[in-house]
Amino acid sequence: MSQKVTVFGSAAVDLMARASHLPTAGETVCGSFFTQGPGGKGFNQCAAAHRAGADVAMVTKLGRDSLSHVTLGVMEELGMRRDYIRFHDTASTGTALIMVDEQTSQNQIVVVPGACATFTDDDLAAAAQRIRDSAYLLLQLEINQDANEKAAALAKQAGVKVIINTAPYRPMSDEFLQGVYLVTPNEVEAQEATGIEVTDLDSASRAARVFYEKGVENVLITLGARGVFVSAHGREAILPAFRVQAVDTTGAGDAFNGGLLTALAEGQDLWQAARFASAVAALSVQKLGAALSMPSREEIDQFLRLHP
Ligand code: RIB
Repeated sequence: MSQKVTVFGSAAVDLMARASHLPTAGETVCGSFFTQGPGGKGFNQCAAAHRAGADVAMVTKLGRDSLSHVTLGVMEELGMRRDYIRFHDTASTGTALIMVDEQTSQNQIVVVPGACATFTDDDLAAAAQRIRDSAYLLLQLEINQDANEKAAALAKQAGVKVIINTAPYRPMSDEFLQGVYLVTPNEVEAQEATGIEVTDLDSASRAARVFYEKGVENVLITLGARGVFVSAHGREAILPAFRVQAVDTTGAGDAFNGGLLTALAEGQDLWQAARFASAVAALSVQKLGAALSMPSREEIDQFLRLHP
């Protein structure tokens, strides 16, 4: 039985180009491939959770422009619910410029949140009941932070567990972090948030302590191809990543967070959920794109059967 969950956050349209290497400042590089598709950290996370079988609602904000049809069209195609989508009359739909190195599959991203930087109290009020009815609320840092703070406060007051994916990193108030069920930074964001360079179990554990001092209950730090540091239920370890051939790591963290949300909603504990989430991420990096690279539940279950 899966409990209701909500993702409150960003949606964007990704303009992605692949090239033999990423340009340095002032350099022009001829690319080999271009595509446009749905993205935005919140949207990718919701798409991952939806594809993995969660009862998930996306609360986001789009412009009244042609780019919004990319997001809306994919939501319809995937059968995602669209009843908590809000619109801004003049701001444009969020966009992201993504360059992918075809040798290493690493990327560089500039995201312009557009309408996603304009969440108001009215936007939150329109989704308040859905948030209160959810077991978990998943946030990122890609929208105006005052809206995130209010959404987190509303959820905490209703006893909803709040998960913060601290991407892209920005400073967070102590009040925002206090009472949060889980934070999921990557190693760069963990360093930005705590000042501790995360290189191994010991440094990850010290970074987790900084979050605990701020009132966070559990900490997962994603370490890319090295796996994920899990600090939960009084135990700490690094779960190694599944070894796969990556073609595009864009949205891998989002796949992880969407998978995590799904597994937690199904009642898995954080250790089991981290493994499930790692499988979702491992499958997503084997396809190009962000939201459209999220695997189906059938693919995830099969992958986990093959990788016991
Ligand atoms: O995490 C990947 C996402 O970051 C991309 O889809 C892009 O939209 C940016 O928000």
